[in-house]
Amino acid sequence: MTSARIAVIGGDGIGPEVTAEALKALTAVAGPDAFDFTHYDLGAEHWQRTGEVLPDTVLEELKGFDAIVLGAIGAAPGSKAIPSGLLERGLLLKLRFAFDHGINLRPSKLYPGVPTPLAPRVFEGREVDFVVVREGTEGLYCGNGGAVRIGTPHELATEVSVNTYFGVERVVRDAYHRAQARRRQLTLLHKHNVLVNAGSLWNRVFNEVGEEFPDVERRYLHIDAAMIAMVVDPSQFDVIVTDNLFGDIVTDLAAAVTGGIGLAASANINPSGEFPSMFEPVHGSAPDIAGQGIADPTAAISSMALLLDHLGHADLAKRVDDAVSADITERGGQRFSTVETGDRIAARLA
Ligand code: IPM
Ligand code: MN
Repeated sequence: MTSARIAVIGGDGIGPEVTAEALKALTAVAGPDAFDFTHYDLGAEHWQRTGEVLPDTVLEELKGFDAIVLGAIGAAPGSKAIPSGLLERGLLLKLRFAFDHGINLRPSKLYPGVPTPLAPRVFEGREVDFVVVREGTEGLYCGNGGAVRIGTPHELATEVSVNTYFGVERVVRDAYHRAQARRRQLTLLHKHNVLVNAGSLWNRVFNEVGEEFPDVERRYLHIDAAMIAMVVDPSQFDVIVTDNLFGDIVTDLAAAVTGGIGLAASANINPSGEFPSMFEPVHGSAPDIAGQGIADPTAAISSMALLLDHLGHADLAKRVDDAVSADITERGGQRFSTVETGDRIAARLA
């Protein structure tokens, strides 16, 4: 395997702590020469020191990497105030948009022994194992809107959702391919009874593309009804496809019902391969537990399985998944430190 160039943005809070364990797993599974890591200091602390969020020169440099590993961004409460959304829009979303991360993959799996708030476990005996394919570059995340008469009783604010045939078709097609390789069921989540314009586009594309995948069963659920289904019986899902904001919301719930956000991995994929894809845990910087060495690095490590798979190493990806799954099962409810968990998984991989 030739050495792949990976840009690493540990970020803030627990970001660098969990990222170190993710890189440890990558090195353990692929050997010391497989990856060449370049670290970038970005995030809240960097902004507080320098006033920079993501300089254009860095964005340009990042284009040259094979993949990006991101920890988490976000300042501790009480630190020098960061305007709401500055880092989200200026760093995280900027990377997703600039590198055309049209496919945001978020797998969820409930491992044996992992506590879940779901009760009773009506799905006992059936696996909870699904993946949400979230559109990543359109929808309500485009910043397409405005406000007038701000601060007056006559204020008016709009956010307009952008949905293109191109963006919808590629994420829907990607989801069908993934469903075909899994249990052959794809569910579209939307709200086409109310959001008639975007909803009609999504629904039409979903059915049109579906004709090419006759072996995949297709289902449609309104997003609100899907929230009930996710809590009552998440084992009914295989692959879910949805827009950017619905996908954001449903993947937090998906994480919560499958053992918490500490286990939820994600991949931001550039489908054309022109730009580097980015791999990150779904969780944030968790400033309340930062620096204590107690953050669970499992989600960051699982994200490395998505990275390996994306770079064409399905065999190594499976080994990381298997090691994570074995470790989660073995630890039961027991808590280990960040480094201990990283070491336990790396030891299985070595
Ligand atoms: C996520 C996060 C981001 C999102 C925020 C931090 C902009 O919640 O990755 O799910 O909304 O996509
Ligand atoms: Mn989110």
